[in-house]
Amino acid sequence: MGTIFGKHARSGDCGSLRAADVDREVTLMGWVTRRRDLGKAGQFVVLRDREGETQLFLSPDVSAEAFALGGTLHAEDCVAVRGRVVDRGDNRNADMDTGEIEVHVAEVEVLSRCQTPPFPVRDDPGAGEPLRLKHRYLDLRRGPMQRTFRVRSQVAAAVRQTLTAGGFMEVETPMLIKYTPGGARNFLVPSRLHDGRFYALAESPQIFKQLLMVAGFDRYFQIVKCFRDENPRQDRQAEFTQIDVEMSFVTPEDIYREVESMMVAVWEAVTGERPETPFPRMAWHTAMERYGTDKPDLRFGLEQVDITETVRGCGFRIFDAVAESGGLIKAMRVPGGADKFSRKKLDGLTAHVQREEVGGAKGVAFAKVGPDGAWTGALAKPLPDETKAKIAEAAGLAPGDLLLAIADQPTVTHKSMDALRREVAAQLDLVVAGTWNFTWITDFPLLEWSEEAGQFTSSHHPFTMPKSEDMDLLESDPGKVRALAYDLVLNGNEIAGGSIRIHDAAIQARVLKALGLSEEEARAKFGFLMDAFQYGPPPHGGIAAGLDRLVMLLTGAESIRDVIAFPKTINGADLMTGAPDPVAPDQLAELHIASTTEPTDPAV
Ligand code: AMO
Repeated sequence: MGTIFGKHARSGDCGSLRAADVDREVTLMGWVTRRRDLGKAGQFVVLRDREGETQLFLSPDVSAEAFALGGTLHAEDCVAVRGRVVDRGDNRNADMDTGEIEVHVAEVEVLSRCQTPPFPVRDDPGAGEPLRLKHRYLDLRRGPMQRTFRVRSQVAAAVRQTLTAGGFMEVETPMLIKYTPGGARNFLVPSRLHDGRFYALAESPQIFKQLLMVAGFDRYFQIVKCFRDENPRQDRQAEFTQIDVEMSFVTPEDIYREVESMMVAVWEAVTGERPETPFPRMAWHTAMERYGTDKPDLRFGLEQVDITETVRGCGFRIFDAVAESGGLIKAMRVPGGADKFSRKKLDGLTAHVQREEVGGAKGVAFAKVGPDGAWTGALAKPLPDETKAKIAEAAGLAPGDLLLAIADQPTVTHKSMDALRREVAAQLDLVVAGTWNFTWITDFPLLEWSEEAGQFTSSHHPFTMPKSEDMDLLESDPGKVRALAYDLVLNGNEIAGGSIRIHDAAIQARVLKALGLSEEEARAKFGFLMDAFQYGPPPHGGIAAGLDRLVMLLTGAESIRDVIAFPKTINGADLMTGAPDPVAPDQLAELHIASTTEPTDPAV
């Protein structure tokens, strides 16, 4: 047993002592943040734990032994101290929560030594992400990280509290499940006991939560890990966490209401603010038309208009060709933008949206409106006056405005206009920090045409309920059918998505047919669910929110990796443990897998 640890409990944490504690004898434990040596007069040491920092004073007048040991302390040594709380008087430090006091140390015990850390444990560690990930435990010791994980824990607690109070039951569902094709790519797990067979890691609890509704659980939730073998991105990890919800006997309205109260509870817990409810709604079609995306950032305007019909046959070769080939031509008014975008800046915008991963557009056409309403710029010459007048009216152009237009195939035009809009907003500083814009996007198309497969695929999943008023289109014009599916978008990020599910066998059969799936194919994929639906399934629906994305937005983190305690890099490697690892041939043999290739280094 040590001199302090094991004999004396901590009297409190390193963030709590105030003037009212003066003269108390205290016991603190934590890590040395820094030490300032005053020679024989003594030394100041700042001690830190999860809750804050306290200044310690070690002097030969208080304890020669403590003073001597203090001289050996280095940053990040883990120590216990005992001493008396003393008022700092005129030397109070207003920048520290505990700045009114310091502790005059009578006794020190070194609990463990820290070798020189690979980077300083401070707000700005001055180290690249790979080094921080390799020593994640030190990275996580830093103040900003500690604050992030406190928020993450607050979010989870607020979610559990509101949902439990709202009658939701938390139920766990399996991670090792049957592989079902479609949707995200699954991780496969070989079965040792069944030669040649595999489990899949659950990409979400979707089918199981529906089965829980058949089981009469009524209101279910789970804070659950999901696994998708996709390439990680800034807002995407292969292993992430959902707040998963399913409810029986509900319409979308019931789901919106529950999710809204959950979001209000989360925001109140973390920020103290209560976002206004109900959240506004926008139909998917409107979002695409006005913003080119199903997750528009509505903290700023910059709406777009479809001018395909306005310019069709206008004589400008590029527009005519695109309109002729079934393309889409969109224009966006940048109010007062004429002066703000030089030729160089416009070239920069074009180069930005030309990048394949950003937009892939061939170019951006522009016009500036002069004080007299006359146009200058690339679109000024080729467009007849009549067409210009029509565009000006459609886009609401006024003197001093900038007009940006893109003509391409519809998906490219939408994607590029969305990117252009966000880039212009960033350059003009249109986003007011600290504002929260929640919007429901509703009426998603039920099906998407897949050029690759030459048939329709589900936009959400095959059990999504079509809107009753579109049901008749299932056979005649399947692409036009809207679904009872919705996403919740926050400041341009998709934070949740869900739908009402089909519980009626006849409707299910029609949807599967529209998807080009035969009864046998459907049975092979989802037979167990179809079987369960023979036993009186209730009408039900649900939603899942991305916990990591919520925390990212709440903390202002730039990357999803900053809100996951032990994340993977962009190429799926864990730099701390070295996973994924090669395994020995006999391990593979036991799993009935033949080793064919030399393992590559995941860090490369
Ligand atoms: P969906 O696939 O839309 O729906 O996922 C729901 C929410 O989870 C988050 N999310 C992710 N977060 C981080 N990394 C990822 N790779 C990732 N993928 C998704 C997003 C998204 O809005 N079973 C359905 C839900 C339902 O219908 O009830 C589902 O999984 O914030």
